[in-house]
Amino acid sequence: MAKATTGNREIDPWAIAGWIALGVPTVLLCVVALIVFVVGVPYYLTPSELRIEHALHDLYGAGGIIGVLLGLIGTGLMTVMLLYTVRKWLPFTAFMGNMQFWMRVHVICGLVGPLYIVLHGGLHMPTGFIGIGFWCMVLVALSGFFGRYLFGYFPQTAQGLRVDIGAAQERLTELRAQLVADTREAAVEAVGRAVRLVKNFDFEPQSIGELVILDAETRRRADLVRIMLHRAGIPRGARRRAESTLLEQLSMRRNLAGWDVARKLLRYWNLFHQPLALAMYAISAVHIFNAVVFGGAFAPLFGG
Ligand code: HEM
Ligand code: HEM
Repeated sequence: MAKATTGNREIDPWAIAGWIALGVPTVLLCVVALIVFVVGVPYYLTPSELRIEHALHDLYGAGGIIGVLLGLIGTGLMTVMLLYTVRKWLPFTAFMGNMQFWMRVHVICGLVGPLYIVLHGGLHMPTGFIGIGFWCMVLVALSGFFGRYLFGYFPQTAQGLRVDIGAAQERLTELRAQLVADTREAAVEAVGRAVRLVKNFDFEPQSIGELVILDAETRRRADLVRIMLHRAGIPRGARRRAESTLLEQLSMRRNLAGWDVARKLLRYWNLFHQPLALAMYAISAVHIFNAVVFGGAFAPLFGG
């Protein structure tokens, strides 16, 4: 599929298709969860020991029709999210698309799946063996946010990033000449300062605290670049092109600067996220086996 362009921004039809493929099911799943929640509020507000007498118990109890369906959907989503792992470790799965797409699938299923399981569990403090699996799931999903933040440093390989920065650097020099030609005399200095803000971005963060500072500094410079270009009085189209080139370069430099420390932290973080995920899957497998084989959990779905 060819890429279309507006200004100097490329529109990738595959990226749009990817967003639709993910966005539509996500919205549908969230709407369904919301409806289930709203209809079930009277049940969820009933104390656990009285629920068995509630009119909605046969539907909303974890072993009721809706309860089991919620468990199935949640489990399904938390299985689909492992396609990220499949894509990551099996080289011949390159046809499945890029890693960024599968990371998005991982994040969405890793949040919506647990949401369904929370509803399946009846929004009360779970007990017993599955209670441990439930809390592992909650911790894994919450810890995911920090991992996702670190993962944001790796949109591509470090080598690719350096090559891209080289190419972007050339674009930057051309852009500067172009902008100076387009700009009123008084604004040339402002443009020069904006370009220097991006070019002289030399940081070597060593810790998580310094990564946070790096991000704050990146945001500060991005704001300054926008303000300077705005004040330079450059025609709108040229200004937007300049802004996106400068901000793209800034973000690449930020990624390269934080690369090593983010990689190291992600390795440590995985020591938390992955074992908890494995524990959750193992406990869930035992729970599902028990529920289906000894509890006849699927019987209500077939009118039993
Ligand atoms: C195919 C998937 C699943 C099925 C058929 C299923 C079935 C059931 C059934 C029948 C119950 C009621 C048990 C009882 O009342 O004694 C139950 C409760 C529960 N399930 Fe599942 N389940 C599934 C997946 C999961 C998963 C993946 C988790 C969490 C990681 C989970 C967490 C819970 C919790 C927290 C409860 C409530 C326990 C309590 O009330 O203390 N379920 N499930
Ligand atoms: C129940 C929910 C979740 C489970 C069971 C789970 C499971 C896993 C597993 C097994 C891995 C290892 C992947 C591999 O290296 O092959 C992983 C990695 C990861 N997960 Fe999750 N995850 C969950 C939720 C989330 C959420 C909600 C986020 C983000 C908000 C997230 C972000 C990540 C990131 C950034 C990695 C590291 C990827 C890498 O190093 O290649 N996860 N997760």
